[in-house]
Amino acid sequence: MDLQLTDKIALVTGAGSGIGQHMAQGFAAAGAKVVVNDINAEGVAGTVEAIKAAGSEALAAPVDITDLAAVEGMIGSAEAAFGRVDILVNNAATLSEHTLYLETDPTACEREISVILFGTMHCSRAVLPGMIERGYGKILNIATDAARVGQEREVNYSAAKGGVISFTKSIAKEVGRHNVNVNVVSPGATNSPMRIGLQEAMKEKLGEERWLAREEKVKRLYPLRRIGEMEDVTNAVLFLTSDAARQITGQILSVNGGFAMVG
Ligand SMILES: NC(=O)c1ccc[n+]([C@@H]2O[C@H](COP(=O)([O-])OP(=O)(O)OC[C@H]3O[C@@H](n4cnc5c(N)ncnc54)[C@H](O)[C@@H]3O)[C@@H](O)[C@H]2O)c1
Repeated sequence: MDLQLTDKIALVTGAGSGIGQHMAQGFAAAGAKVVVNDINAEGVAGTVEAIKAAGSEALAAPVDITDLAAVEGMIGSAEAAFGRVDILVNNAATLSEHTLYLETDPTACEREISVILFGTMHCSRAVLPGMIERGYGKILNIATDAARVGQEREVNYSAAKGGVISFTKSIAKEVGRHNVNVNVVSPGATNSPMRIGLQEAMKEKLGEERWLAREEKVKRLYPLRRIGEMEDVTNAVLFLTSDAARQITGQILSVNGGFAMVG
């Protein structure tokens, strides 16, 4: 299937590492020009360099998405450089340590909600007027199955992502008439450097044998008996932001090996 992403302009938040970086490179490989956002300027530079080295165009946008004025400036720069933004992927997130809710730091809680929920809402607020004016746009929000079915020790993160899911459905109803599709990809556990780092720390804490037993137990929660890879998420995102998915809006697609099957 040709997703026809050639010359589309895609902005990916949190694209300085992990799944966001993988998606940014995926858009570039599919022919899109990419605006690379992350709060981590070094990560942004690395992604932009990799995209350019592969022969595609990319613009660095090292901006904190919790700052609405900075986000509006970022969209202005993207439109000045490339003329418009066709596709927005709200991927940036932060997850504070795995702790019971009552033991979490309220400041960390506010930061999680600010990055995940307000970041998504600010980027959407800034990009939508142009999409509506042009009568064309795709917004794709990254959630997590922790928000779909609940997850202990990830309460703040899940609450913020649950907000993203609700925001997606409501805004999809408002902007559908302008030919703007808004959807969610909801990954289960995915082997990004972030998850691999957490696993390494756990291995150190538990010892190799107990960690392996735990990892086997985790895999048994997945009917497909595998942990996701970054390309599993990228493939779903490229499809849902292409015109091949023009009749899909307000939907939540889990990419989770069957971990949760939500009706
Ligand atoms: N890896 C998994 O198992 C998994 C599972 C479910 C959902 N997800 C979701 O997938 C997405 C990517 O996760 P990942 O594993 O690649 O994690 P990651 O930590 O590597 O990526 C998140 C990126 O967001 C950036 N970011 C944080 N705050 C920001 C801000 N204020 N402004 C701009 N950028 C900011 C970070 O610098 C980082 O580069 C996230 O939305 C995450 O919630 C991941």
